[in-house]
Amino acid sequence: MSRTLKTDIPGTDWRASLGDLESHGPRELFGAETPPRLVLDVGFGRGEFLTALAEKDPGFAFLGIEYSRKRVLKMARRLARTQLCNVRLVEAPAERVFERAIPAASVHRCWINFPDPWPKKRHHRRRLVQPAFVRDLARALEPEGLVEVATDHPEYAAWIDEIFSDEPALENCRGAGWSSDVEDRPCTAYEAEWRAERRTLHFFSFARRPDVVAPPL
Ligand SMILES: C[S@@+](CC[C@H](N)C(=O)[O-])C[C@H]1O[C@@H](n2cnc3c(N)ncnc32)[C@H](O)[C@@H]1O
Repeated sequence: MSRTLKTDIPGTDWRASLGDLESHGPRELFGAETPPRLVLDVGFGRGEFLTALAEKDPGFAFLGIEYSRKRVLKMARRLARTQLCNVRLVEAPAERVFERAIPAASVHRCWINFPDPWPKKRHHRRRLVQPAFVRDLARALEPEGLVEVATDHPEYAAWIDEIFSDEPALENCRGAGWSSDVEDRPCTAYEAEWRAERRTLHFFSFARRPDVVAPPL
């Protein structure tokens, strides 16, 4: 039996359009006089990770990017029932958001948790992690800003490692490769599923090198 998607927002609607983001910039969406540190969650899914981060760091500005209308709507409904006012949501492909709306050197930290692995070779072009996207990510990060990527998929892990390692403006915080566990981070919905199946997880952390000039758009 299919259930009707509820579209009313029971409180403040924290969604922004890609157009708003493009015209005003992410920081203006938060309405702060002093720009808060901007943290992104790309492909936030059910949004529990984003909510946990925002609760822990109320002084930071959190922007969730997700292309599933249903997931954005559900998260907007959940957020409206909380007291949180440091989260904004945008419904759009992350590639477009970075290309058009994230200023250079403006992001403190970007999380990409369990992006779809698209395991079939003919679908690899659909993967989020591509050289052009990683270049845009590097441009968006402030000096020494971080991008954190997690995957359960070994072949996607090798792909992520190779593409990020080829980006001169980023360096691997662990020297090379990935860790199979990281302390002190909230668990995502997908992560919980893969942990229950005892899959090996791959956690990457890359930092924006301050000595390399931001690549142009
Ligand atoms: C496998 S789920 C992981 C969700 C969540 N991060 C977690 O770990 O539980 C991948 C999510 O990324 C979203 N997504 C995939 N490609 C995207 C893109 N190009 N831009 C924005 N969101 C995307 C999907 O809609 C989905 O919610």
